[in-house]
Amino acid sequence: MKHLTDIKSLSKSTILELFASAEKISASDITATKKWHPGKSAIALFFENSTRTLASFQLACQRLGVDVTALNVAHSSTQKGETIKDTVLTLNAMQPDLFIVRHHENHIQDKIVDWIGQETGVINAGDGSHQHPTQGLLDLFTIWQHKQQFDDLKVTIIGDIKHSRVANSLIDGLQLMQTKEVVVYGPDALIPEQLNALKASNMKSALCDADVVVMLRIQKERLPKDTHVDFSQWHQQYGLNSENLKAAKANAIVMHPGPMNRGIEITDRVADGEQSVILQQVRNGVLMRQAIIHRMLEL
Ligand code: CP
Repeated sequence: MKHLTDIKSLSKSTILELFASAEKISASDITATKKWHPGKSAIALFFENSTRTLASFQLACQRLGVDVTALNVAHSSTQKGETIKDTVLTLNAMQPDLFIVRHHENHIQDKIVDWIGQETGVINAGDGSHQHPTQGLLDLFTIWQHKQQFDDLKVTIIGDIKHSRVANSLIDGLQLMQTKEVVVYGPDALIPEQLNALKASNMKSALCDADVVVMLRIQKERLPKDTHVDFSQWHQQYGLNSENLKAAKANAIVMHPGPMNRGIEITDRVADGEQSVILQQVRNGVLMRQAIIHRMLEL
């Protein structure tokens, strides 16, 4: 694995190996993993805001002994007129081993691979509404920890699917893992025409007998101005609460990639309840990113 720009570039067996690696890292002492990659360096290049992904990549690098430099590029040379290509070529001349990039333009990481060649690995930390492969992998890993299989699962994803790179990567990953049923639900305007998932017609059928429920926020920053959705009614129509969650299986897990809008897509009681694995997703984010970086640097 030289780069990770799209979860579809991975095979089911590679994903299972990443799960095993994340589990091994979880059982390892940090003082031991810190010795795995001495002398390696990474640059985290974030052109969009992030809390979880950036902190988690920084900790993942540090816990593997990789020196990491994090640049919030919104406050750097791009503000002075430098193109992203020049920024990347400039930083690449400093000879990092990895770039970790978040940007609002779909497929920008593929362009970066073309610009810099094969010497430096590139990890996609989110590109526009296209992909967020490390989030998809940590979500799959969390499901795996609870269910130990995918081929008999109903996974329901609710919210703004159309503008969610998290949903795209998770749906692609669930297909790779041969998940029995992937169901989406949300306002028609926020469900893509073409999708590798079943479209539910109401909240009850979306949740009925689900093993996994994934709630998504409204991606307001990506919505075209002419999108016709009554957001004041969002919680009543698309929100998860203790009552409608009863339609899912009793042992269903509830997931959310964050940032969460409490009281809109999810109630406090569900977000903080027994079925919620939201903070476990965050913990797994560090482990899965360690597993990915370790695999890329091993080659
Ligand atoms: N889930 C996720 O990508 O969160 P951040 O935007 O905080 O990185």
